[in-house]
Amino acid sequence: MPSSNDIRAAFLDFFRRHDHTVVESSPLVPRNDPTLMFTNAGMVQFKNVFTGLEHRPYKRAVTAQKCVRAGGKHNDLDNVGYTARHHTFFEMLGNFSFGDYFKDVAIELAWTLVTREFGLPKERLLVTVYHDDDEAAAAWRKIAGLPEERIIRIATSDNFWAMGDSGPCGPCSEIFYDHGPEIPGGPPGSADADGDRFIEIWNLVFMQYEQLPDGRRVPLPRPSIDTGMGLERTAAILQGKHDNYDTDTLRALILASAEASGTDPDGPHRISHRVVADHLRASCFLIADGVLPSNEGRGYVLRRIMRRAMRHAHLMGVREPLMWRLVPTLIRQMGVAYPELGRAEALITETLRTEETRFRAMLERGLHLLVEEAAKLPRGVPLPGEVAFRLYDTYGFPLDLTQDALKAEGRGVDVEGFERAMAEQRARARAAWAGSGEAATEAVWFDLKEKLGATEFLGYTAETAEAEIRAIVVNGQPVNEARGGDEVAIILNQTPFYGESGGQVGDSGTIRAQDGLIIDITDTQKKLGDLFVHVGRVRQGIARVGQAVVAEIDHARRAAIRAHHSATHLLHEALRRRLGLHVAQKGSLVAPDRLRFDISHPKPITPEELAWVEAEVNARVRENAPVVTRLMAPDEAVKQGAIALFGEKYGEEVRVVSMGSDPEATARGGLYSVELCGGTHVRATGDIGLFKIVSEGAVSAGVRRIEAVAGEAALAHVAETERALFSIAAALRAPPPEAPARVEALIEEKRRLEREIAELRRKLATGAAGAAAGPERIGDVSFLGRVVEVAAKDLKGLAEEMRKGLGSGVVALVSPMDGKASIVVAVSPDLTARFSAVDLVRAAAAAVGGKGGGGRPDMAQAGGPEGDKAEAALDAVRAALAAAPALAG
Ligand code: ALA
Repeated sequence: MPSSNDIRAAFLDFFRRHDHTVVESSPLVPRNDPTLMFTNAGMVQFKNVFTGLEHRPYKRAVTAQKCVRAGGKHNDLDNVGYTARHHTFFEMLGNFSFGDYFKDVAIELAWTLVTREFGLPKERLLVTVYHDDDEAAAAWRKIAGLPEERIIRIATSDNFWAMGDSGPCGPCSEIFYDHGPEIPGGPPGSADADGDRFIEIWNLVFMQYEQLPDGRRVPLPRPSIDTGMGLERTAAILQGKHDNYDTDTLRALILASAEASGTDPDGPHRISHRVVADHLRASCFLIADGVLPSNEGRGYVLRRIMRRAMRHAHLMGVREPLMWRLVPTLIRQMGVAYPELGRAEALITETLRTEETRFRAMLERGLHLLVEEAAKLPRGVPLPGEVAFRLYDTYGFPLDLTQDALKAEGRGVDVEGFERAMAEQRARARAAWAGSGEAATEAVWFDLKEKLGATEFLGYTAETAEAEIRAIVVNGQPVNEARGGDEVAIILNQTPFYGESGGQVGDSGTIRAQDGLIIDITDTQKKLGDLFVHVGRVRQGIARVGQAVVAEIDHARRAAIRAHHSATHLLHEALRRRLGLHVAQKGSLVAPDRLRFDISHPKPITPEELAWVEAEVNARVRENAPVVTRLMAPDEAVKQGAIALFGEKYGEEVRVVSMGSDPEATARGGLYSVELCGGTHVRATGDIGLFKIVSEGAVSAGVRRIEAVAGEAALAHVAETERALFSIAAALRAPPPEAPARVEALIEEKRRLEREIAELRRKLATGAAGAAAGPERIGDVSFLGRVVEVAAKDLKGLAEEMRKGLGSGVVALVSPMDGKASIVVAVSPDLTARFSAVDLVRAAAAAVGGKGGGGRPDMAQAGGPEGDKAEAALDAVRAALAAAPALAG
């Protein structure tokens, strides 16, 4: 009996042998489609290949695709557990032709696989075709030799397959298996077709059209093939079962659930085991693909699935969290085909256990309320919406959990009443917000948040994603369109752009559409917690609300931001280790080109401490340890040693980022750094590359600021520093390592020279310099004339000093520097009535070929081009003094 793994392998191998490329399953969160909540068919990853937008190096492909149908267009959640074939998670096996083969080859391949490889008896098989598809009917007649009554024409949408409201589509043909007359039900198209006897196992879609969002249907560039075979139902047939839940994989999970709960797998809790088995698969695969439980979007669908299963675990009477204990069984069953399960095992286990622990605390009380309220109602009367809302709001019961809980007693829920109660609560929140005095300009975000809900952030795992424009804001007003040049704020349903928070700056990048629209995004902000606002300007084209776009962040910039963010965590831990545990984060900026980190610390951090911290961080970088993100309740995270920011508000779940190892730190699992953080990080510390501290200083009393660079920015910093060193070395004509000593020596030399100059000046001033003796007398006037080699700017000061030393008299200084002469004349105040320094200096200037001169009667300055005539200048002053009339009386 082939196992599910055998069947999957046989399918892939059959098509590999027929020239198909085996392509890996794409993630459950579609990267290339804004309208789909989850990947719900094998063709989703090939959507753009069908429409011709994207080209791949192959024209034939085969996949085993993981799919989830819960929430959104296809929603099987409500029936799961109660029927033989409903699942939230399932695998779709499919072969694809991109403009290569078409109908007849597809039919031939399918028929060969089903009858020869799988060995299904021909008489058990029948097919459907779209009512006007004569070609397909003829192919089935010819290839399979099926009689007319087993080629059933169907006119409804059952035989026209479309991915969603838009996307590739076409008529299809389905292969059915007859489980035999002992099971009630009629063939497709008959009145009792809903019965369980005839089961569709394979859908062959003849992709011919693309459904556009505006309602038009246009032909695809080339007719193509998309097929989907349900692995679970095929396994049921090949394993001789009728019920999918009796096949090997699901049965193993049911048995694990029975064992963990100590109950009979086929007893009164039969349905609960089925729910647990199915929901466990969906939950684990979603978590492995980056979805985490939350109260919005995909995260809420996951939470609903998890909580629905957890209620069933509770119904079995188990008192401890159950789901996480089944993870090893799932990995044994499916881990080889889907290695991502094993890689994410820790995250899956932790997420399941945390959710179940927290939910159980409320579950019992909520169920108590539910039973009490239901008991008050006559049989069949639906539970009032207001009670369902109270269960939702206070006890965390998703609506479908309440519905599921009442299903057994045949009671429904007043869904309209539930929605009314929800709307009333929103109105109350709004009133409270309006009263809280926030800026009126922010009202637009409140309205949009209320209308659109949270933006789903895909940026932990994706840097490019398709999305839909949900709102455009220009000048603070929502608009339907924006054109080239407009400054816009754009809201998408989902985005890879990180919105500024936790110190990390927002992403930049582009938003583009097929019709040529390009919006340059320069910043991303988060409003009201989780509304992502992309700020930018339309470069070309027209942006419209409802338009499908591709949002792509600036990858290099994000990589640089990641390096700085992870470096910040290592820096934080290194500082605590070196300076002490009083070190707490007081502020942080994580940008692509630098980081800034403020900490509480009472005194400057010494160069030695900084050097230690820098070396420590770089040692962790070289360790190249993986950076691991987990999700947990805040108190649990803190218990595990995560550093939380005091005063910061954390939601129900927090991301915990850890990196590096420290065998000593047993309290936190041997990890070096563990922090609560919503930011984006490198995959391994080695990606940081290099870490350099640039500066350290004070911000305010008791707060120090460190600026540092990582990755390329650190290399740029080093290069710049090096360039400076090299040019210093070149100027010194010394090798760089000797430059510091040489500079030291130069500085010492400069100090010595300065001292010497001062000394010389002093000597000059006191007249001891040079050959000249003391002042000479000219008439009744003391005169001191000197030729000195002193910079022109210093002449006045020197003359002043000498004049003071002289008492009453006249001083003339001439400095013949650079071939020119500078002259200063000083006259003591008692003599200015007889001699003006200005006149004297002019006389001196004339002797060196200069003209003019200026100043005050007691101090004047002049110059001339003929420096070699300095002595003549002094003689000119002597002559002027001698010529002056003697003091009267
Ligand atoms: N895309 C087709 C389906 O999902 C094969 O049924």
